[in-house]
Amino acid sequence: MTAPIPAPRGLPVVGNALQVPVTGGHQFFADLAAAHPEGIFKLNLAGRHVVMVYDPDLVAEVSDESRFHKPIDPPLAHVRDFAGDGLFTAHDGEESWGQAHRILLPAFSQRSMKAYFPQMLEVAQDLIAHWETRSDVDVTEDMTRLTLDTIALTGFGHAFHSFEQPELHPFLQSMGRALTEAMHRTRQLPAITGLKRKADAAYRADIARMHDLVDEVIRSRRASGEKAQDLLGLMLEAADPVSGVRLTDENIRNQVLTFLIAGHETTSGTLSFALHLLMRNPHVLAQAYAEVDRILPGDTVPTYETVMKLDVIPRILDEALRLHSPITAIGLMANHDTVLAGKYHLDAGQKVAVLLKPLHVHPGAWENPGEFDIDRWLPERKAARHPHAYKPFGNGERACIGRQFALTEARLALAMILRRFAISDPHGHQLAIKQTLTIKPDNLTLRVRPRQEHE
Ligand code: HEM
Repeated sequence: MTAPIPAPRGLPVVGNALQVPVTGGHQFFADLAAAHPEGIFKLNLAGRHVVMVYDPDLVAEVSDESRFHKPIDPPLAHVRDFAGDGLFTAHDGEESWGQAHRILLPAFSQRSMKAYFPQMLEVAQDLIAHWETRSDVDVTEDMTRLTLDTIALTGFGHAFHSFEQPELHPFLQSMGRALTEAMHRTRQLPAITGLKRKADAAYRADIARMHDLVDEVIRSRRASGEKAQDLLGLMLEAADPVSGVRLTDENIRNQVLTFLIAGHETTSGTLSFALHLLMRNPHVLAQAYAEVDRILPGDTVPTYETVMKLDVIPRILDEALRLHSPITAIGLMANHDTVLAGKYHLDAGQKVAVLLKPLHVHPGAWENPGEFDIDRWLPERKAARHPHAYKPFGNGERACIGRQFALTEARLALAMILRRFAISDPHGHQLAIKQTLTIKPDNLTLRVRPRQEHE
């Protein structure tokens, strides 16, 4: 016996589309999830019918890659306008995805992180030097500078020097505007998008600016003849171990752009949310200070090995990613007709979204889910958890290739910040979330002051 999937009432034709706030659906979907304890509901977004799931058992079912795959639907279909067949926006089964995935996978192993460490350290030191000259800092903007500079320097040998510039780099401004337009297009009927000529021209110009920068990075590497062992070097030199094929120039451009986009927005959001949460939880902040004082005393220069010894800081990041996953949903599609939980029928091609915040606070999997509790990441509690209750890095073969990169970079940055600065929130920041493709805290201004001994 099948059962109907709960569906909040909408309007004729547009369905629930007009209910989703223009500023982003993050909170709207979380509220709907709270009102539907079944762990599943269905929305009609102007003819796009999407089944939302967040019960861990249902998420386990949709994570089965023999039953579901990642489709490139809006907003990713629009991001594909500029990232093309890069890993993030490649279609399921697209040949170039397999080639690039196999070539790049070794470059993202834990072992490779050691090779990137000197550049990660260099950029983290730029952040520290910048904050030493400041009192109030815009955390989210500076985390964005940090993560963009890190992926560009480690991945492609390109120095943005973002901390030397008062404004975010023009590349970032173009990327921000293009992502915002991609999100607008997700909510617009295609006929309306076609009519907005000015917006379209601005969008095309932003895409051209991003492509120009990336083409210049590739051109100057080729011209230098340098054989660097970074992501770009690998993409220019290596052949796919299965097919023997090398990546085309266009695909390399798409991958570089993809890493610049996917490789910084998410990590900067994570670090910003972590600092916001530490301001709200002084007992955890005290634990973090104690840890950095023990592992990184005085002016010790961190090494890869010292960062791997951290324990409190990684758990802070795990918990920040649980409460504020920068990517809010994972899009999937049914491969064939199927039934969830033995009762909810889905047709082949049915769109599904795993809602990460509702999953990450699901009472079936988490004790006191709303609490910032880093001890839930202690090994014994972690081992007892539902295996599909936590997916900030996505699922299966389309999960995040940059996970170790992000975590290494974020651990190092957070440890260096806390080692050097006493951080406070004199302005009483109220969390407001800014949503583009990812979410980040908006206007998070905190005060930083060099720490005194024993503070
Ligand atoms: C994919 C999250 C950092 C590169 C993904 C996905 C998620 C995710 C959820 C799957 C998206 C989907 O299913 O549509 C995160 C988070 C990060 C982070 C939370 C930081 C805390 C990074 C970094 C890089 C990166 C640093 C690169 C250096 C990618 C790429 C993909 C991806 C290339 C596409 C993988 C594929 O489909 O083959 N990420 N990411 N990410 N991420 Fe990350």
